[in-house]
Amino acid sequence: MDGTAIIEQLMTPEGREDPYPLYREARAMGPVVPCGESLLLVTGYREVHRTLRLTGFGVPEAEQREQWDEGWSRHRSRVLLSRSMLERNAPDHGRARSLIASVFTARRVAGLEPAVTAAVHRLLDGMAEAGADGSPVDFMDAFAFRLPVGVICELLGVPEADRHRFRPYAADLTAALELITTDAELAAADEAADELSGYFAELAARRRAHPEDDLVSALVQVAADDRDRLSGQELLANLVLLLVAGFETTTNLLGNGLARLFDHPEVRTGLRAGTITAAGFTEEVLRHDSPVQLTSRTALTDGLEIGSIPTPYGTGAFLLLGAANRDPDRYPEPDRFDPTRVDSQPLSFGGGPHYCLGAQLARLESQTAVPALLDRFPGIAPAGRPVRHDRLVLRGYRTLPVTLRPA
Ligand code: HEM
Repeated sequence: MDGTAIIEQLMTPEGREDPYPLYREARAMGPVVPCGESLLLVTGYREVHRTLRLTGFGVPEAEQREQWDEGWSRHRSRVLLSRSMLERNAPDHGRARSLIASVFTARRVAGLEPAVTAAVHRLLDGMAEAGADGSPVDFMDAFAFRLPVGVICELLGVPEADRHRFRPYAADLTAALELITTDAELAAADEAADELSGYFAELAARRRAHPEDDLVSALVQVAADDRDRLSGQELLANLVLLLVAGFETTTNLLGNGLARLFDHPEVRTGLRAGTITAAGFTEEVLRHDSPVQLTSRTALTDGLEIGSIPTPYGTGAFLLLGAANRDPDRYPEPDRFDPTRVDSQPLSFGGGPHYCLGAQLARLESQTAVPALLDRFPGIAPAGRPVRHDRLVLRGYRTLPVTLRPA
C-alpha cells in the first residue's frame, strides 16, 4: 500500500471504525509518507509535534479549501467555521485568540469546578433513576453528551432553558469539520450554522445591553473595547466555535474513557484504590484513543520540510494525531493502555499557536466525572454492543449502553 491507498482506506467505514492497523501500516513506511505530489501523511510524534509549531505551516484558510474542494464555500457551516480562530492564520488568528484567551482564562475555568461537580452528580442521579429497574442506560445520551454541553453553556451564559436546543445543532455542525461528508450531513450542518449564529447574535445583543457575569458578556465587551477588536462576524464564529469545539470532543473523551474501563478491569480497580489517578487515566485515554484524530496544515512558504521531505509552498499535510500518539519511537508498547505512563504529553490537543484553548476544561470534566462515576456505580458494565460514530476526525461513540448493577 502507498500513502494514497492508506488515506483511501482511512475513509472507508472499516478504516473509520478502527484506523489503528492502517496507522501502523503507514508508520512502517516511515514517519512521513507522500501521497501524490502535494500531500503528506504524517504519523511520527516528533514530526507532528514540530510541524504544529513551525510558523511556516498554517491551517488551510477558506481560499485554499475552495481550491482543494470546489463548492466548499457554498456551505454556510464551513464558511462560519472558517471565520473562527481555528481556521485562521496570523495575524487574524493571534488577534482573535488573544482577545478570547483574555476572558477564557485559567481562573475562569478553575472557578467552574463546583459547577462541574454539581453537574456530574445531577447527571449521575438521572442515570441512577433511568437504570434503577435494571434496564440499560445509554451512557452517551445520559451523561457524555450532557456534561460538556451543560458546562460550556454555563460558561458562555446560555440560559438553562435554551440548552436542550443546542445538542443536535452542535452535533450536526461538527460534520463540517470532517474530511468527507454526505450532502445530507452538510445540509444539516448548514442549518445548524444558521441556527447557532442566529442564537448567539441575539444573546450577544442581550448581553451588550445588560451584561452578566459570563463569557458572552465578557467577550462582547472586549470585542468592542479593545484596539484589536473582533468584527461582528468573527465574534459569532468564535462563540459558535467555543460551543462546538468543547462539546463533541469532550463527549468523546468521556465515552472513549468508559470503554477503556470496560476493557481493563484492573484499571478500574486501580482507580478505586487510588493507585491510578484520574489525571493519569485521562491522559492515557487522550493518547490511546484520541477524540480528535487528525488535523491539517499547509506550507505557507517555500523552503520548509517535514521529516526531511521538502514541502514547497502549498503542500498539504495530514497530521495524524491518533497515529503520532502511538508512535513506537515515542511510547514503549504504544498499543498498550497504561495510565501510569510518565511524561506522556499526547498530541490530542494539538500544539503550537492553535493549541486547544479548552484543554484545561476538558481535563477538569474527565477528572471529575471518572471517580464520581465509579463511586456511584462500582458495578457499571456494558449492556450490549457500543456503536461508533462513522467519522474519521472526531472519534467516539454514538451509543454506549451500560447497566448500573451493583458490583
Ligand atoms: C483547538 C482538541 C476540548 C476549544 C483544538 C485543537 C485540538 C483540540 C486538536 C487544535 C486543532 C488544530 O490545531 O488544528 C480538543 C480535544 C478536546 C477539546 C481532544 C476534549 C477532549 C475543548 C474544549 C474547548 C475547546 C472543552 C472549549 C470550551 C478549542 C478552541 C480551539 C481548539 C477554541 C481553537 C484554538 C485556536 O485555533 O487557536 N482542540 N479540544 N476544546 N479547542 Fe479543543
